[in-house]
Amino acid sequence: MQTFRSDLIAGLSASPKSLSPKWFYDAEGSRLFEQITQLDEYYPTRQEKALLRQTIPLWLDLFGTDAVLVELGSGASAKTRILLDAISDLAAYVPLDISETALEAAARALRRDYPQLDIRPVSGDFENLPNLPDDLPKGRRIGFFPGSTIGNLDHQAAVELLIASRRMLGSDSLFILGIDLVKDRETLLAAYDDRQGVTSAFNMNLLHRANRELGTDFDTDAFRHRAVWNDKEARIEMHLESLKDQNIQLDGQKFLFQAGETLHTENSHKFDRARVQALAEASGWTLREMRISAAPCVALALLQPTE
Ligand code: SAH
Ligand code: AVI
Repeated sequence: MQTFRSDLIAGLSASPKSLSPKWFYDAEGSRLFEQITQLDEYYPTRQEKALLRQTIPLWLDLFGTDAVLVELGSGASAKTRILLDAISDLAAYVPLDISETALEAAARALRRDYPQLDIRPVSGDFENLPNLPDDLPKGRRIGFFPGSTIGNLDHQAAVELLIASRRMLGSDSLFILGIDLVKDRETLLAAYDDRQGVTSAFNMNLLHRANRELGTDFDTDAFRHRAVWNDKEARIEMHLESLKDQNIQLDGQKFLFQAGETLHTENSHKFDRARVQALAEASGWTLREMRISAAPCVALALLQPTE
């Protein structure tokens, strides 16, 4: 099984050094992400919420009665409330997240605010999707993957996730996919390098987490947050850059960072319609509709299983 320890050892041994962004989300990482969503510069949450409020009422007829909403990477389930308020006859909500603290806190708050709703949190990794609980109500399964979290995967991993989702949700399902769109470099860079330094703290938390959980000796003052726009790959990259030559110890092994060398911690791919269509077609889904917000633009795609 992939663990934080085995992934970090593999990532520090690779060249260039890299680590999956899934390890950002311990309790502190989940808290910092929620703080990011409140920043002026981080437009995706604000824009997607506004777009969900406009769009979900237009799609209600397609969902049918007694639908089951299955959310991947649900975090605090903040956006979900827009759907729960709009879909009055929803039969059940299944949030899935790798961050157990975020998942439990979200389920507690939702059970308080939506006492009639059947809420079934699943702790898990969306890159290795579990089966849905087999005693769920029988209505249409609606997948929900907001926030452009799909952009944190490379193309192949995104295709695999969509294929697995199609299998998990069934041939009668729908899938609501939130994606961020390519736009000017300044807007993108500001969103990933905010003035208050919250994104920097979110990125640096990986090193603090490794020190706390794995006993590494990262000198966190000797690294800095960097956000870079990679135009060729249409993605923002986040890195942790070493400010000096230094060795990191993990389980008796030493890993050398040279001054200026980075640990690549996240890709956040940005999309256009052609890319969303290509992703859907490669994974057994058809792009039924795509709605775009006001600038800075994000989009909601509605996918249905290809016949
Ligand atoms: N959906 C929310 C949260 C997005 S943040 C929103 O749009 O605002 C990304 C969420 O995905 C976090 O809650 C994180 O814990 C979760 N996550 C990241 N990688 C994951 C993985 N591999 N499997 C399951 N959840 C994951
Ligand atoms: C969760 N994910 C879609 C966020 C993003 O924008 O890629 C994570 C994030 N990284 C830095 N800021 C926010």
